[in-house]
Amino acid sequence: MKDRLMVALDVNRAEDALAMRDNLGDSIGWFKIGLRLFVAEGPALVATIRQQHRVFLDLKFHDIPNTVAQAIESAGNLGVEMVNVHAGGGDAMLAAAAESAAAFPDMKLIAVTVLTSDPMPKSQARDVALRRAAMAQDAGLDGVVCSVHEAAAIKQVCGSDFLTVTPGIRWGDQDVQDQKRVADPASAIAGGSDYLVVGRPILHAENPRSAALEALSMRESIAA
Ligand code: C5P
Repeated sequence: MKDRLMVALDVNRAEDALAMRDNLGDSIGWFKIGLRLFVAEGPALVATIRQQHRVFLDLKFHDIPNTVAQAIESAGNLGVEMVNVHAGGGDAMLAAAAESAAAFPDMKLIAVTVLTSDPMPKSQARDVALRRAAMAQDAGLDGVVCSVHEAAAIKQVCGSDFLTVTPGIRWGDQDVQDQKRVADPASAIAGGSDYLVVGRPILHAENPRSAALEALSMRESIAA
């Protein structure tokens, strides 16, 4: 299970990222490095985190096909094991990204369907996410980022091998903050999520390691 938890290192200094890495240690298998940390600390920090953990580089590329293909190549050269693009970039962009990623067989290429912070109604989000997931699969991608609420339907349409990565994870009485379509860890697993992305519930916890272990140990299903 620890290989299915990705902790979002949404901090802006290498020393804070490394302190969190050391605190969580081998309780988790993956760190997600997103815009805040990558813009601040760049590839050197990715290389350091990679020494002990797998890295999902969450930069959500969305540009013309050629530019995205080149960015995917740069991500592959960093040795990350997952990278993503926005499905909203369209099928030509997705196909270019997939072609570029094919040179890096150990790196999964994932498309963001609908942001979990998007306020659109759940049924509409599900339709859009399903359409974009099918488009990503046709273009040769390995999976999608979606909310837990769409994961099972995506698995049904795209098959169980098509990866679902789900942010918007909250449990107990945690504040949902800017997220809209949230669910707890047990519901995520039950709903077909392959990877759970957790940021603030662990980063801002009094004891981040305990929060991570709590997320890993949750078994009861209480959809939010
Ligand atoms: O703090 P929280 O658990 O809400 O963090 C979720 C993380 O997942 C953030 O780093 C955010 O950028 C990312 N993410 C997301 N929704 C998506 C894609 C990525 O929340 N659709």
